[in-house]
Amino acid sequence: MRVAMIGTGYVGLVSGACFADFGHHVTCVDKDAAKIAALERGEMPIFEPGLAELVEVNFRAGRLAFSSDLAGPVRDAEAVFIAVGTPSRRGDGHADLTYVYTAAREIAAELDGFTVIVTKSTVPVGTGDEVERIIRAARPDADVAVVSNPEFLREGAAIIDFKHPDRIVVGSDDARAREVMAALYRPLYLNAAPLLYTGRRDAEVIKYAANAFLATKVTFINEIADLCERIGADVQEVARGIGLDNRIGRKFLHAGPGFGGSCFPKDAQALVKTAQDHGASLRIVEAMLAVNDVRRRAMARKVAAALGGNLRGRTVALLGLTFKPNTDDMREAPSIALVTALQDMGARVRAYDPAGMEQAKAVLSDVDYCDGPYACAAGADALVIVTEWEQFRALDLDRLRDAMTKNPVLVDLRNIYRPEEVVRHRFIYDSVGRPRPS
Ligand SMILES: NC(=O)c1ccc[n+]([C@@H]2O[C@H](COP(=O)([O-])OP(=O)(O)OC[C@H]3O[C@@H](n4cnc5c(N)ncnc54)[C@H](O)[C@@H]3O)[C@@H](O)[C@H]2O)c1
Repeated sequence: MRVAMIGTGYVGLVSGACFADFGHHVTCVDKDAAKIAALERGEMPIFEPGLAELVEVNFRAGRLAFSSDLAGPVRDAEAVFIAVGTPSRRGDGHADLTYVYTAAREIAAELDGFTVIVTKSTVPVGTGDEVERIIRAARPDADVAVVSNPEFLREGAAIIDFKHPDRIVVGSDDARAREVMAALYRPLYLNAAPLLYTGRRDAEVIKYAANAFLATKVTFINEIADLCERIGADVQEVARGIGLDNRIGRKFLHAGPGFGGSCFPKDAQALVKTAQDHGASLRIVEAMLAVNDVRRRAMARKVAAALGGNLRGRTVALLGLTFKPNTDDMREAPSIALVTALQDMGARVRAYDPAGMEQAKAVLSDVDYCDGPYACAAGADALVIVTEWEQFRALDLDRLRDAMTKNPVLVDLRNIYRPEEVVRHRFIYDSVGRPRPS
């Protein structure tokens, strides 16, 4: 099957490469000509495990191509995916649909023969209707079906997630479109990933509801962690105890510095706006966003408390800056508000991240960027684990302590160390939702 993927960002590139790997012929299109040129040279615009190899194999096999012009690829395609960004609109938090609607107009101009237009971008309910209206207005002659097919991949595990989804949601009532979608996803379907056919509006809501639910789960355990700190309980035991209940489930119950990333914050915000516009109230989602928002600065106060309350003139070293491991994505990373709060309190900030330093430099200034965890710890009063990269899980604690000032502090915002062990290495240690060791 011939596929045009409009937008070659995180989702477009991963989806395009995976569809090509299934045997389809995919052209990934992007307006960013420099990105397309780099991809043709084999350079990846993002850090994502396994992606470079997947792209190379399929590019060489002639199943994956890149283009900065959508005309030819759209004309040839049986399915055209819209995978452009839908960032938060400045000022009001609605999803900014400018890129989606522009793409729809550009696609309309090139349509030839029956074409399924698939919205993979995360878009508010009703966007599919508007995409269809735009296309029919521009090309009354065109034979199209507009489908919603939201994407649930996680950055850092994007290829595995795309190839082994819990479900594939296809929002369309059109029988021909459903057939095309089934053919596209056939390899996954054969592997027993359920293909869930819904109405288009249902599919649009499913994506937002899923993200809002997961973000709420994270935020719930973060508040339970705060309670545990006050009453001397251990949030990890509590999370295990509730997570073993199948009705609750173990995932997304890790207390930490608050969620971030390119999806949860903007999607939850957009969902609230959609609800308000339709006169429905989503108070749980609103509360969840507010709780998460204040949490990052609260983490800075936790660091200050571990250092005796005053950060002026102190040096704080951060390990990890990206919003999660195995990505270089800094969008809405908790580290951004944390660094700003530490600087506001008078601290000097040093930092190291295995993949996100270039992206971080674009959003965080006045930070000393270091070459590795030990260089980062040099001369610091406190070391803060912000992102749980594998390489931070078995650090040489003696070496770290020797590099730091007297009475060093380790604040573990991801609970990856055992308190007794860190204290044995003569650190003052604090983590999230666990009793502070004496
Ligand atoms: N990143 C994730 O983990 C993830 C997961 C699921 C869903 N989503 C959703 O998928 C969508 C895309 O997210 P992303 O992270 O891949 O975005 P991104 O910003 O990384 O990439 C979007 C790309 O689209 C290109 N683009 C914009 N308009 C274009 C046009 N008219 N023609 C060609 N190219 C165009 C941009 O140049 C950019 O390269 C968003 O709606 C997002 O919410 C993202």
